[in-house]
Amino acid sequence: MAETIDGRKLARKIFLNLHLEMQQYRQHSCVPGLALVHVGKHPESQIYLRQKQKIAEELGIRVQLEHLSEQTNVEKIVDVIDRLNRDAMIHGILVQSPLPNRSQESEIFNHVAAEKDVDGFSAVNLGKLCQGDASGFWPCTPSGVYHMIQSTGIPIEGKRVVVLGRSLIVGKPMGLILMQNHSNANATVTFCHSKTRDMVDIMRQADIVIAAIGSPAFVKASMVKPGACVIDVGITRVPDPSKRLGYRLQGDVDFEAVSQVADFITPVPGGVGPMTIAMLMQNTFKAYQQQIE
Ligand SMILES: NC(=O)c1ccc[n+]([C@@H]2O[C@H](COP(=O)([O-])OP(=O)(O)OC[C@H]3O[C@@H](n4cnc5c(N)ncnc54)[C@H](OP(=O)(O)O)[C@@H]3O)[C@@H](O)[C@H]2O)c1
Repeated sequence: MAETIDGRKLARKIFLNLHLEMQQYRQHSCVPGLALVHVGKHPESQIYLRQKQKIAEELGIRVQLEHLSEQTNVEKIVDVIDRLNRDAMIHGILVQSPLPNRSQESEIFNHVAAEKDVDGFSAVNLGKLCQGDASGFWPCTPSGVYHMIQSTGIPIEGKRVVVLGRSLIVGKPMGLILMQNHSNANATVTFCHSKTRDMVDIMRQADIVIAAIGSPAFVKASMVKPGACVIDVGITRVPDPSKRLGYRLQGDVDFEAVSQVADFITPVPGGVGPMTIAMLMQNTFKAYQQQIE
């Protein structure tokens, strides 16, 4: 039976450390400032933003919410980002993904000043990750997954990793992080996507599987090598009349079945989600330190 990697517990540890570190800046004239830009009314995004705001404020980070209507054009969104880039009281800027028009995401992310890009989605920060330059910000979800894998104590070096999904915010940076030329990484990474052939054969060779495709319970026990570490990034609302809200959150992995064959597994909820927020807080604090020093 697989050991469950508890994202909430790991995140709590990170919040505690951040809280202690922030004490050193109590006397400073400005507190860390995080701007959350939300375009449209995506229901999950509203939930994630509320969670991010709550945790940030508990840590002493001042949060500024910028809500823009679904019809807001790129120029207007960029104007808001430019204003936040110039605001000395804002140290981190997050543009909540997905945007109503996903094809505009890269253009918009690239407008966030690299030193305030705490989500790590700008070309500068993704480029730094690609170059192995640690001065940038890593995207929060893959960074959180990396922490979770490290928490198991499994040596990553030389392991075969399969990443399901090749998005710019999860899949691609995830692979880049795990194949860094570093003794805590050095994995052999294979990416799978919607056009991949023989995916099950590829997956069955993986020591570590990271599922980030948004397809509920897609990963079955028969696709997983016995003893593998399985990380579930996916989150989808699936109808469930037994729940008060009429739905439940389902990951990309069939948790019960895969738990029977894997050595480590992450739950949904309570897995990667809390770690994504923890990494955002860490990045915001790093941005604050860099900007005030
Ligand atoms: N826990 C968190 O904090 C967190 C954070 C971010 C995202 N998520 C969740 O993670 C999931 C992925 O997010 P995303 O933003 O990366 O999604 P995305 O941009 O829609 O990308 C999905 C990727 O999965 C691939 N894909 C889709 N169906 C597939 C299939 N049946 N077989 C193989 N590949 C398939 C797509 O392939 P193509 O490129 O060929 O289309 C694409 O590369 C979503 O459920 C999202 O809600 C969770």
